[in-house]
Amino acid sequence: MHITHLSLTNFRNYGRLELNLSPGPTLLVGDNAQGKTNLLEAVYYMATTRSPHVASDDQLINWEADRLEQPVIVGRIVIQVQTGDGLKQLEMRLIRERRNGQATFRREALVNRRKVRLMDLLGELRVVLFLPEDVGLVTGSPAERRRYIDITLCQVNRTYCRTLSTYNKLLEQRNALLRQLAEQGTSAENGHDVLSVYSEQLIDAATTIFMHRTRFMRDMARGVQRVHYEKLTGGRETLRLRYLPRLQHGQSGSTRPDDSEMMQFANWMEAQGNDRNTITDRFRQALTHAVAHDLLRGSTSVGPHRDDWQFWVNGRNLSSYGSRGQQRSAVLALKLAEIDYVTTTTNDTPILLLDDVMAELDGDRRSLLVDYLASIRQSLITTTDHALFPESFQRQAKQLTVRSGRIEELSDPE
Ligand SMILES: Nc1ncnc2c1ncn2[C@@H]1O[C@H](COP(=O)(O)OP(=O)(O)O)[C@@H](O)[C@H]1O
Ligand SMILES: [Mg+2]
Repeated sequence: MHITHLSLTNFRNYGRLELNLSPGPTLLVGDNAQGKTNLLEAVYYMATTRSPHVASDDQLINWEADRLEQPVIVGRIVIQVQTGDGLKQLEMRLIRERRNGQATFRREALVNRRKVRLMDLLGELRVVLFLPEDVGLVTGSPAERRRYIDITLCQVNRTYCRTLSTYNKLLEQRNALLRQLAEQGTSAENGHDVLSVYSEQLIDAATTIFMHRTRFMRDMARGVQRVHYEKLTGGRETLRLRYLPRLQHGQSGSTRPDDSEMMQFANWMEAQGNDRNTITDRFRQALTHAVAHDLLRGSTSVGPHRDDWQFWVNGRNLSSYGSRGQQRSAVLALKLAEIDYVTTTTNDTPILLLDDVMAELDGDRRSLLVDYLASIRQSLITTTDHALFPESFQRQAKQLTVRSGRIEELSDPE
C-alpha cells in the first residue's frame, strides 16, 4: 500500500496542508520544531488511532485554532491510500465542542466518507514507525512494551484488537466488583457468583491474548535474531527476544514473580503451542489462587495486563547490562523485524515512518537501513540534514522541506 495524498486541518502546527505523495522514499528535511515529527504523527495516528506520545489526544488540535474558542473546532487528517482493493479515503476528526462553558472532546473515523468505529480504521493503513525514543522499549516500563505489542498486533489482527478491548472492559468490571466485595465483606455471597462469571469471561479473553502474543513474539524473535546476528553483528552476538507472560503469582507468595520464574512461565507458554485448554486451565488456577490477595487490593494481579517482554544479548538482559549502542542495535533489529513481520503477515509492505533516526546510527547501521528502504513500497523519512543519506539515495528520493507547518518541494541541490 501507499499514500497518494495527505491533508491536514488544524492538526498540531499545521493549519492547513495538502500534500501529494508518491511511492518510494520521501525525505522531509527541516530545522527543529518545524513540523516533521508532527507530519509522521498524523500518518501514525490514522493507522493506529494512537499518538506515539502518550499525551492526551485533544493536544493534537492546533492550539491557535483552539484558542479562538469557537463553538466547534475540528482537527482533521484525511489520507488517500492505494491498496490492493483500490483507492480508499480515510478520515479522522478530532472535535472540540464548547457549550455553556463546558468543553468536550471526541473523535470520529470515516472510511470512504462513511462513519465507522475507530477500531475499524485499524488495518486500513499499516505503518512501522521508528523514533529515536524507541530505545525506551529496552529500558522503559513494561507498560510501554505492552503498548508496543498491542499497537503492532492491532494493525494486522482485528481479532486480537477486539479481544483486547473486551479484556480491558472485563478487567475494569472485575476490579470494580473486587473493590465492592472488599467493602461489603463476606456478606455479599451473590457477588461472588458474579465474580466467577466475570472471571470466566476474563480467562477466555486472556487466553486468546496470551496465545496471540506468544505467536507474535515467537515470529518477532526469529526475525530479530536473524537481522541482529546476520546483518548487524556479523555473527558475533545473539539477540533473544522473550515474551514474559504474567501467568501466575511468584512461587514465594510474592505477586511479582522473580526473573527465573518469569522465564519458567515463558518456557511453559512457548511449549503449549496452540493448546488453548491447557492455557485456560492454568490461568484459571492462577486467578483462583490470587483471589484472596486481589480482594485485598481491589485489583487483578495476574493476566496479560501485567505481561512484559525483554531482550537478551549473549545471555544477558539488555536493559540492565547492555551498552547504549547495543540497545540501539536491538531496537533497530526490532523495527526491521517488524517490517518483515507485517510484510509476511499481510503480503504487503507497511509504510515506513523514520523520524530523525539516521543521526543516531553509525555508518554500517545506516547503510543497512538504507538497503531496507529499497525493498519498501513507501517510506517517509525526516531529517535535519540530508547529507546523512548516501548521494545515490538522495537522487532517488523525493525531497521536501518542512518550515513552520508548511511543505515545499526542495529545489534541485545542483
Ligand atoms: N497542538 C499544537 N498546535 C500548534 N503547534 C503545536 C501543537 N503541538 C505541537 N506544536 C508545535 O509543533 C512544533 C514541533 O513540531 P515537530 O513536528 O515536533 O518538529 P520537528 O520538525 O522538530 O520534528 C513545536 O513548535 C510545537 O510547539
Ligand atoms: Mg522531530
